[in-house]
Amino acid sequence: MLDLSLFDQHVIGQDTEDPLRFAFTAKRGAHSAGGVRPVAPPQQGTVWQNITQESGATASSRQRCLYIHIPFCRVRCTFCNFFQNAASRQLVDRYFAALVSEIKLKAALPWTQAGEFHAVYVGGGTPTDLSADQIQQLGELIRSHFPLTGDCEITLEGRINRFSDETFYKALAGGFNRFSFGVQSFNTQVRRAAKRLDERETVLERLTDLSSTQLAPIVIDLLYGLPHQTLDIFEQDLQDYMATGAHGIDLYQLMVGGDAPMLNLVEKGRLPAPATTPDKASMFALGVEFFDKHHLKTLSVNHWARDNRERSQYNSLAKTYAEVLPIGCGAGGNLGGYTLMQHRQLDKYMEAMEAKQMPIAMMFSQHPLEPMFATLKSGFDAGVLRRSDYQTLGLEDAFEYLTPLFERWQNLGLVTIEPDYIVATLAGRFWSVTLAQACIEVLSHQTEKLKIA
Ligand SMILES: C[S@@+](CC[C@H](N)C(=O)[O-])C[C@H]1O[C@@H](n2cnc3c(N)ncnc32)[C@H](O)[C@@H]1O
Ligand code: SF4
Repeated sequence: MLDLSLFDQHVIGQDTEDPLRFAFTAKRGAHSAGGVRPVAPPQQGTVWQNITQESGATASSRQRCLYIHIPFCRVRCTFCNFFQNAASRQLVDRYFAALVSEIKLKAALPWTQAGEFHAVYVGGGTPTDLSADQIQQLGELIRSHFPLTGDCEITLEGRINRFSDETFYKALAGGFNRFSFGVQSFNTQVRRAAKRLDERETVLERLTDLSSTQLAPIVIDLLYGLPHQTLDIFEQDLQDYMATGAHGIDLYQLMVGGDAPMLNLVEKGRLPAPATTPDKASMFALGVEFFDKHHLKTLSVNHWARDNRERSQYNSLAKTYAEVLPIGCGAGGNLGGYTLMQHRQLDKYMEAMEAKQMPIAMMFSQHPLEPMFATLKSGFDAGVLRRSDYQTLGLEDAFEYLTPLFERWQNLGLVTIEPDYIVATLAGRFWSVTLAQACIEVLSHQTEKLKIA
């Protein structure tokens, strides 16, 4: 029986009349579960061989994704935690040559050829800053070297700045069939403070043009909680999205951390502070209400689609127990029961590629309960946990074990318990990552007692 008194409010939540704003103090970043073991560098090569060569290459029933990383941006946005390198044409060209070698090396692995990939994501950084020819070549390489399902989603991520018609049509010719643009906010003042290029009108016009071609789903990311972005400005951002006709939208809560320049600018008084967590909760609620009012389809707790064309396959699959083959400097993935991170430093990555070695920086063997953890993460991301998913995994006991936590959260107004489902309320949807992380923490501490791992 789960003893909730062993856990603090980060896990069980705080007693409050207003769970949307105050059930927890702040969203928790995802961290790995206890029991995850790092693979020592001298062993990494052997493990990799075992997973990807003949013996480990039999296709599992798990779905597969391919992630390719482009670690360059022309300008660093003040809020961004993902920036890696400033782009220069020469550096990007050298990187692209190394990336092509890695694509060919990884494509030739028996593991790669043993099953189809369901979704491909070229992310960054700013992949749309590659030249139009490089983007076309990348698409063609993906399609000619990897076994893809007939309906494989192939996404190109980036920004609309300098995304010309030539780039768009060459990307389509290469086989990209979905485009995800970071907009963050349409408001010019918010954009300038965040060091985004282009003004509101330019962004609106370009997105409208691209969407109206109806040649592929066009999807945008908006952030909520940026400096200067009041509730009214955020509502206007949502209205602007509707006006573009773009096919899908992600709403991300601003989480500034690490070495993002915004923290320093706020400290020096050069930028107003970003929104507090309770204010961001209000913005999230406004977003959900807005999309309900406009009858958009909810694909996950933070993603909506205007039509059936937008499926957001990669984002939803990557949160399940699907395998992700990583390619590129700083890419992360998981396959064969291991999680891996590739070198984030460009010189280390380039050196590894020149030596035709796998650019692995870190490798971990996954927790024995990883299928359960992944199912919890994808369930909370969808806003509903389905008992049958855990029955299929043979982990219904672990699901049952969490009942006292679900009951506690039901009392707090974060979930409702139905016979076969745990359904997140609006507040539960806002705190979905925190709830998934809390379940994982409870289970990973209790693995021994559960005797299911
Ligand atoms: C890694 S970025 C790449 C997108 C593209 N380079 C751009 O400029 O929009 C992908 C998405 O992460 C989100 N993101 C970046 N920094 C974030 C932060 N501090 N908190 C939450 N989301 C963030 C943004 O919405 C962004 O569109
Ligand atoms: S938001 Fe995009 S362009 Fe801006 S720094 Fe981050 S990855 Fe680069």
